Amino acid sequence: MSTDTPIVIFDTTLRDGEQSPGCTMHHAEKLRFAHQLARLGVDIIEAGFAIASHGDFDSVQTIAREVGGAEAAPRIASLARCKREDIEAAARAVEPARKSRIHVFLASSDLHLEAKLKISRTQALDNVGTSVRLARTFADDVEFSTEDGTRSNLDFLIQMITVAIQAGATTINIPDTVGYTTPTEYKHLFETVRRRIPGSDQIVFSTHCHNDLGLAVANSLAGLEGGARQIECTINGIGERAGNAALEEIVAAIATRHDRYPFKTNIVMNQLYPTSRMLGEIISFGAPPNKAVVGKNAFAHESGIHQHGVLSNPLTYEIMTPASVGFTGQNIVLGKHSGRRALEYRLAEMGYKLSHQEIDAVYERFIELADRKKNIYDQDVIGLLQPSVGETLVSNVP
Ligand code: KIV
Ligand code: ZN
Repeated sequence: MSTDTPIVIFDTTLRDGEQSPGCTMHHAEKLRFAHQLARLGVDIIEAGFAIASHGDFDSVQTIAREVGGAEAAPRIASLARCKREDIEAAARAVEPARKSRIHVFLASSDLHLEAKLKISRTQALDNVGTSVRLARTFADDVEFSTEDGTRSNLDFLIQMITVAIQAGATTINIPDTVGYTTPTEYKHLFETVRRRIPGSDQIVFSTHCHNDLGLAVANSLAGLEGGARQIECTINGIGERAGNAALEEIVAAIATRHDRYPFKTNIVMNQLYPTSRMLGEIISFGAPPNKAVVGKNAFAHESGIHQHGVLSNPLTYEIMTPASVGFTGQNIVLGKHSGRRALEYRLAEMGYKLSHQEIDAVYERFIELADRKKNIYDQDVIGLLQPSVGETLVSNVP
């Protein structure tokens, strides 16, 4: 029996992801994507911010009914500020789900309290207590987030979290709202908060990392090392500004470096690539080609040395198999850096069995073409098999 520690995967593609430029989704698209998130096996879908608009409310409610209504469905969450009308809207929107969550947040940094909310620390603490208590009248499962937590005064952060727990919060999220923290610092923050708050072993602590310094995934994993047991993340890492921690990178890191991260998730790994592709079809951009785990080039090898290695034994240059994450693209890509072996492999895949002599002749033409042309497609390779006038190049060309 596995002794790995279970980690809750909280997907916020439809909330934090959707609220970033180019990522807007319509009602039907959100519903389609929520069904895919359920197939992927996420534990919690943050379906939106119910108070934000009628459209958002309807989407959260429909997802709660149609995705969250099924047996073994993910829990459906809605975000709410510390305001009565937000909490009531969130409660109504998630009500049809079998398992629901109200996710309440308030800023904990002095910068946000003074410049944005214009309230004192005392008012903030009152607000948190009242709001979490109200949320608990509607749901057993209430998450509280300390917005800008990583830039907050530590003693005040601990005070705010303590108030939220006493008011009934069951999950405490410490967001790195502006992507400012570092792995060591974030790990240490969870360790300190958990050590200093009595009864924190009864609470699930959560990470929520933005990627402004490109550290969102590293910080999330460091949060786990510090005792966090929920990770908030998005598909393809979409989200405010530089985005959120990418779900696919976190679960791939846990699966691949299990020796360092002895955790388990409910993610169905071979649904990662299809989910990433679906999101790319829905919003106005897909994962960049060099994106870890799900990018078009994540498993592509073009240089002769790498192709030779991978064709001999994929472990030479692949730390996980493309199939394990549901990747269906080409991994041996032909270009000017490719060697004979790769050309022969591609030809064999297309059904052409060539002699050594024939391969040599075709390879010469191939290199000449690849020097002129950036992308070599299957049609180009087939074209290379056609003999020039008066030449016998390949004997078995149909
Ligand atoms: O980044 C952030 O602080 C958030 C909270 C609302 C959870 O998205
Ligand atoms: Zn966020």
